[in-house]
Amino acid sequence: MSKPRILVTRRVPRECLDLLKQHVDVEHYDKATAIPRGLLLKTAADKDGLLCLLTDKIDAELLAAAPRLQAVSTFSVGYDHVDVPACKARGVAVTNTPGVLTESTADFTWALLMSAARRVVEGDAHMRGGKYKGWDPLLLLGSDVSGKTLGVIGFGRIGQAVAKRAGGFSMRVLYHDTKRASSDVEAALNAVFVPLHELLRESDYVSVHTVLDAGTRHLLDDRAFGLMKKSAYLINAARGPIVDEKALVRALKSERIRGAGLDVYEWEPKMAPGLASCKNAVLAPHLASATLETRVKMGVMAAEGLIDGLVRKTRSPYRVD
Ligand code: DGY
Repeated sequence: MSKPRILVTRRVPRECLDLLKQHVDVEHYDKATAIPRGLLLKTAADKDGLLCLLTDKIDAELLAAAPRLQAVSTFSVGYDHVDVPACKARGVAVTNTPGVLTESTADFTWALLMSAARRVVEGDAHMRGGKYKGWDPLLLLGSDVSGKTLGVIGFGRIGQAVAKRAGGFSMRVLYHDTKRASSDVEAALNAVFVPLHELLRESDYVSVHTVLDAGTRHLLDDRAFGLMKKSAYLINAARGPIVDEKALVRALKSERIRGAGLDVYEWEPKMAPGLASCKNAVLAPHLASATLETRVKMGVMAAEGLIDGLVRKTRSPYRVD
């Protein structure tokens, strides 16, 4: 019997490909940039499975172009780029990579927070630019982190891992989610559930970890920035469109808030006009899960999910529906 045929839409860790090749016939778009939409539609036409990325839209058009498709595995925990109901209606299984990137994403959230609060990137530019003339009591003053209040929006795996780290900085932790965490989790993380407006008013650092859906698009907008402390920072390592990026640029430029640490963008890979010139923003190119160890784990998990769906015909433990 011939093996199922799959398309891998981007360069991925070798471990991911090696595993796939043991079970399926692989066509690989082995590039550092997203597969062009037209080519994706054309190449998917005779495939049984897709190993895709968050830059590939898996929607009704793609499903119509790929009549043989049985399984889609996304190399990401987020699956807002996949129309899951449409896949379900067509009997196409969808899997993702939850869990393996929780810690690295939480670590990076803190890297953004600390870099923004303590002006690490500006300091680096200062040194490299030959501007350092010796110790100065008023040079590049940032904001304290220890003892401050962290507000976590979205209290799932990653939000909780971020909250856990706040204990090391003796911080007060507030959180908001559509669902309240169990009292055990709240007690273990010393986290207090509050309405969103209270979190925005009280927090020194607001960190976003919710999923992107119709209810969270532009959750952080002019109104939200208006509620935040002038001394507060916004950190977003979740999804760009949760933040109204033009409103954020206004808030940063007018110093309505003190700063931001961003890993994701509303029109990724583009940035809103003016964002690049905001010195009070630390900007990273979607790196939160980007450690060698984590990306290998994500790749293997994404491969396993696809193999489960196509070859083993088991219900993958990572299936999103
Ligand atoms: C995801 O997995 O959804 C991230 O955005 C990339 O690690």
